[in-house]
Amino acid sequence: MKPIGVAVVGAGYWGPNLVRNIDASPEMTLEWVCDVDVERARQVAGRHSPTRTTAALADVLDDPRVQAIAVATPARTHVDVARPALEAGKHVLVEKPLAASYAEAESLVRLADQQELILMCDHTYCYTPAVLKIREVVQSGMLGDLQFFDSVRINLGLVQRDVDVLWDLAPHDLSILDFVLPECVRPQAVAAHGADPIGAGKSCIAYLTVQLSGGAIAHAHVNWLSPTKVRTTIIGGSKRTLIWDDLNPSQRISIFDRGVALAGPEEIGTDERREAAISYRTGDMIAPALTEGEALRGVMSEFAAAIRQRRPSVTDGRSGLRVLDVLEAASASLDYRGAVVPLRSAR
Ligand SMILES: NC(=O)c1ccc[n+]([C@@H]2O[C@H](COP(=O)([O-])OP(=O)(O)OC[C@H]3O[C@@H](n4cnc5c(N)ncnc54)[C@H](O)[C@@H]3O)[C@@H](O)[C@H]2O)c1
Repeated sequence: MKPIGVAVVGAGYWGPNLVRNIDASPEMTLEWVCDVDVERARQVAGRHSPTRTTAALADVLDDPRVQAIAVATPARTHVDVARPALEAGKHVLVEKPLAASYAEAESLVRLADQQELILMCDHTYCYTPAVLKIREVVQSGMLGDLQFFDSVRINLGLVQRDVDVLWDLAPHDLSILDFVLPECVRPQAVAAHGADPIGAGKSCIAYLTVQLSGGAIAHAHVNWLSPTKVRTTIIGGSKRTLIWDDLNPSQRISIFDRGVALAGPEEIGTDERREAAISYRTGDMIAPALTEGEALRGVMSEFAAAIRQRRPSVTDGRSGLRVLDVLEAASASLDYRGAVVPLRSAR
């Protein structure tokens, strides 16, 4: 089958990773690299490569060899690239977050539907072997009923010019949450607190609490100011608890058969103290074997499969929209000093 002609738009920090993985994909051919800074595009394409470079998006959109566009420009410009690309009949892969607002993202989802084109969001972590395994474990019921999801994503990060730490880092945690949750558990409302101790003019530290249907709770701590890097997520269930430490390649995932249970009312009795009915379970820990592999390879493979099979990708525009629903509500909560803000999807 003929490889799919792809153009990468945006050749800054992240764009070269898309270029490398498209180059490595047998299902794709890299036709163009486009950047308003054409010198950047030339560097990233490689001076002796047959891939063409341009500063003008129109050059890319006018080329019939281009069937798909991968967008790695800053979030505020995603819609300016993705909309004309969809209008020109190209399938589109957009970096996270899908757009700078829910309304923009919704207009892209609608346009892609009208044009019968693939709109996919690069929720990169969803294509890591660890997150794929976590999804399998959570959705198989191995953890029991979900009780909590707690994620820490902190390090000395680049203070971004256009977004705060919530919009920079939390899309990762929220897209993972969206990807692994069982269908019956959905985010309902969010409260967020932030701080800017260095005077950057935006939150550099944020704590996000998401109420989930069924009484479970999710929390994310995102931080650009931590001298040490932590990438840990704990997912607790009524039967088992999973710990994902992404910085421990020899044992990224551990599943503990340990937990706390409260006996039912019939076992507590009327005059017995409640504490006496709490029992602690200590069982084994297992560490599933994981393959190692670059997540972006999986992203490209899924993008190509979705285009060929004319089916939504597993991180389609709608998943990008759900992440934006939480992000916008979190920003509103930050403005209201941590007030609980219901999500659009739950209203
Ligand atoms: N999936 C991930 O893990 C991940 C990681 C980092 C960044 N990102 C995302 O990638 C995107 C880009 O981030 P970055 O850190 O590479 O930004 P960056 O500022 O380093 O690079 C952006 C590039 O886009 C170019 N550009 C800007 N507007 C353009 C336009 N209209 N047309 C063509 N080129 C344009 C700029 O000249 C620049 O070279 C963001 O959406 C970011 O959230 C994703």
